Amino acid sequence: MSKPRAFISRRIPQPAIDLIAAACDYGIWDDWMAAPRDVFLREAAQSDGVLVMPSEQINEEFLDAAPRVKIVANMAVGYDNIDVPALTRRGVLATNTPDVLTETTADIAWALLMAAARRVVEGHKTIEAGQWGAWHPFYMLGQDVYGATLGIVGAGRIGAAVARRAKAFNMRVLYHNRRRAPHLEVALGAEYRAFDDLLRESDFVVMTAPLTDETRGLFGAREFALMKDTAVFVNVARGGVVKEADLVEALKRGRPWAAGLDVFEVEPTPKDNPLFELPNFVGTPHIGSATLRTRTAMAMLAAQNLVNVLTGKPPLTPINALPNRV
Ligand code: GLV
Repeated sequence: MSKPRAFISRRIPQPAIDLIAAACDYGIWDDWMAAPRDVFLREAAQSDGVLVMPSEQINEEFLDAAPRVKIVANMAVGYDNIDVPALTRRGVLATNTPDVLTETTADIAWALLMAAARRVVEGHKTIEAGQWGAWHPFYMLGQDVYGATLGIVGAGRIGAAVARRAKAFNMRVLYHNRRRAPHLEVALGAEYRAFDDLLRESDFVVMTAPLTDETRGLFGAREFALMKDTAVFVNVARGGVVKEADLVEALKRGRPWAAGLDVFEVEPTPKDNPLFELPNFVGTPHIGSATLRTRTAMAMLAAQNLVNVLTGKPPLTPINALPNRV
């Protein structure tokens, strides 16, 4: 019997390629950057399953082009690149990579939080520019993290991991989520707040919820104006949850006091993004899960999902369920 064919849309860690190669014939776009759309669709058209990144839009156009595909294995936890209802309608499974990147992504939220609060990047640039002035008691004052109030928007795995770290900083933890999260309340003493109340009360607002119709553009002028003039805002979710033009204006006015983003409305964000002209802004290039160990674990999980489905087994971490599937 001929093996199923898989297509891998980008260079990924070798152990995951080996796992796929053991069960499938496969093609790979062997480059750091995404395959051009026409190449991707052409390859998908000849495949039974694809392993993709968030840069691949998995939509009706894809489904029309790739009628053989049974499984789309996303190498990411977020799946706003996938039209899940459309896949379900056409009997195609989708999977993501939860859990394996949780702690690594929580670390980047904390890196941005600390860097923004204590002006780490601004300080570095100041020294680099030869502008380190004389020390005085009011030089480069930041915000205290220890003992402050942390407000987490989104009480999923990453939000919980951010909150766990806050306990070591003796922080009060508030959260907002569509549903109450008893595990956070019991294990971490986190307190639920309505969204606006969380923005008003928090010293640090950290966004970890996925991009959905409900969260698109969630943080705009109104929300920033509700924050404290000492608050630090951090986003490690998706760029689309923030109205960046509003954030620029808000940071110029000093409310919030500073911000750190790992994700942007357009990625890669252009060099002339006005955020980067602001001293109270720090940005990283979507590196939330970027350690070799975590990226390997993500690739392995995505590969295992792909192989499972192509060899008739259930996927480990499905996003959708196919009711009529036997
Ligand atoms: C990365 O952004 C992910 O969703 O895993």
